[in-house]
Amino acid sequence: MSPRLRHLTTLENLPRATIERLLDRAETLRDACAHGTRKLNVLAGRTVLNLFFEPSTRTRTSFELAARRLGADVINFDLGFSSTSKGEEMYDTLHTLEAMHLDAIIVRHKQSGTPDELVRHAMSGVSVINAGDGNRAHPTQGLLDVLTIRQHRPDFENLRVVICGDIKHSRVARSDVHALSALGVKEIRLCGPAGLMPEPDEFPHGLRFDDFDQAIADVDAVIMLRLQKERMDRIELPDEAAYFTRYGLDQRRLALAARGCLVMHPGPINRGIEIAPDVADGAQSRILEQVGNGVFVRMAVLDEVLAR
Ligand code: CP
Repeated sequence: MSPRLRHLTTLENLPRATIERLLDRAETLRDACAHGTRKLNVLAGRTVLNLFFEPSTRTRTSFELAARRLGADVINFDLGFSSTSKGEEMYDTLHTLEAMHLDAIIVRHKQSGTPDELVRHAMSGVSVINAGDGNRAHPTQGLLDVLTIRQHRPDFENLRVVICGDIKHSRVARSDVHALSALGVKEIRLCGPAGLMPEPDEFPHGLRFDDFDQAIADVDAVIMLRLQKERMDRIELPDEAAYFTRYGLDQRRLALAARGCLVMHPGPINRGIEIAPDVADGAQSRILEQVGNGVFVRMAVLDEVLAR
């Protein structure tokens, strides 16, 4: 059995058995909730801090819901109303909050590597979970994405998956690739404009495509990505209408994929820029299922790192 995790900062090099244990636990928790269990008390008396230095809708709220469903107390750190605005440095904020006896810190930060820095600086016994750092990792998103795929297509060894869009700036793409690779997916394709693809040595995974029509041919799942304008230089910003023509997912392109291809997107979606509204809301869309699975994956991760 793979050892229990103390922290979760990345899926890179995580053993397949650990990923499968987390997915299986998420399924068990999902079943329990489906059968009426709204609250488990496995984390009663534990305190979880949501420490988000970047905006979030899905990740932050689902971590909060996950922690509460497991019986933990939750502190939501509100950056805009915090003493950060008075010049307090991140580690002083960390130690101040730790003095209130935390058990886990869920952190999102624009700087890649911040969660590992927190692991080094946090008090012993405090677990750190990465809720997205720069373009490096978003491990719980990677887990919920593979859980969503597994619920529809568990035959990973036969699966073709394409990730399309701004891969260069995407922590989701990196965590998805780490999870899909660990689980033995047959083929991972990466597609986007040359300026939004990562350097091969920085990101050695997947077959690379410039033409989305070719990249989507016969795939079983398509994961669309948002243009991460907040991480781009001005010269990297593409014309949105031209971008949609070349890299947008519409019904014509979706018809090139395998029958029943899963349409996925980590959110937030930008309708008409990377995905057509009728595809985002269409019968093949799994986008809201991804959101729902996020709660169970985050319950599984909190349970993994915190349960006694
Ligand atoms: N997928 C995702 O991380 O969404 P949020 O930014 O809303 O958390």
